[in-house]
Amino acid sequence: MAHNWGIIGAGGIARTLAAALKEASGAELLAVGSRSLDKAKAFAADHGAARAYGSYEELLADGDVEFVYNALPNALHAEWTIKATQAGKHVLCEKPISVTPDEAEAMFDAAGAAGVVLMEAFMYRCHPQMARLREIVQSGEIGDLRVIRSRFSYGLSDLTNVRYSAPLHGGALMDVGCYCVSFSRFIAAADPVEAYGAAVFGEQSHVDESFVGTLTYADGVLAQFDAGMSFAGMSNADIMGSKGHIAVPVPWKPGDEACFTVTVGGETREERVPGANPFSLEVENIQAVATGQAEPIVGREESIGNMRTICALLDSATGHRSISLP
Ligand SMILES: NC(=O)c1ccc[n+]([C@@H]2O[C@H](COP(=O)([O-])OP(=O)(O)OC[C@H]3O[C@@H](n4cnc5c(N)ncnc54)[C@H](OP(=O)(O)O)[C@@H]3O)[C@@H](O)[C@H]2O)c1
Repeated sequence: MAHNWGIIGAGGIARTLAAALKEASGAELLAVGSRSLDKAKAFAADHGAARAYGSYEELLADGDVEFVYNALPNALHAEWTIKATQAGKHVLCEKPISVTPDEAEAMFDAAGAAGVVLMEAFMYRCHPQMARLREIVQSGEIGDLRVIRSRFSYGLSDLTNVRYSAPLHGGALMDVGCYCVSFSRFIAAADPVEAYGAAVFGEQSHVDESFVGTLTYADGVLAQFDAGMSFAGMSNADIMGSKGHIAVPVPWKPGDEACFTVTVGGETREERVPGANPFSLEVENIQAVATGQAEPIVGREESIGNMRTICALLDSATGHRSISLP
């Protein structure tokens, strides 16, 4: 029998996840909760959900909902994830999991106390491309790892978007720089020891609209990234080693088949990694974790470590100084 899902927040990414639930095996969208009942009803009709609620509380009180997808703005992730876990639901919470590392710890503690699974919805990590990239790096094929470089940016002119909201903890670093931080930490397989960030804050929005970050790792690895929401979009990643490098043209939204190149000694080969819709893969992963059949692809320590790094970068950019990480 399929697992029953409920979505809180009937916004943009919720529509993507609702579509992905149809592709995922063993998942069914049962209910949607919105601040507006009319909006919930329209969403439910569009996506074939049987139940629509005019509040998030009502959805959490529905005893038939097993998994909650938290698709709310960043500032509301902790509050509603904790409430969902206390209602006995497994939670797939959108990225970034919280807005501080302390919040992230409290969220995982709440899930642990309730005996439910919490996972951050870093869908790109669930595509097998990421595991394959780390495998190649750890095989030594490109020599010793030296520099990880990544980019994620887009142009967004609508200043009413949640990404331009300081109270909701928008900003380029929280929205897309978080992918670059996650990518760097995953490929380096370590926590950085120092973070340096530089940002341009919007005059009206007061959020970082352009962000450039540098991370230093203990074993001589450097990571650098740029993230932006107010310039022409560009997304890719490069992994450079002492003997070769890997170029990843589609790091964040790979589809049914990901493709990247590995260059060693002047010879370039192409790798193709079969996968699937990464949103469906994250749904299948959390369901497998909840039924004791898998480990979470994005686990507690990874999510908390990402938040620690993100917050150090933001502190660095606001304080114009580098920040040492424990
Ligand atoms: N993994 C990905 O690929 C991906 C992509 C995009 C976004 N995200 C993440 O998903 C989350 C939501 O992003 P989104 O693009 O879907 O945003 P969105 O379209 O603005 O939707 C957010 C929803 O949150 C609810 N909400 C509750 N309080 C709100 C408030 N004060 N202001 C605005 N909305 C409020 C609203 O739903 P109701 O009105 O129905 O209550 C709204 O539709 C963010 O954390 C973002 O980082 C992830």
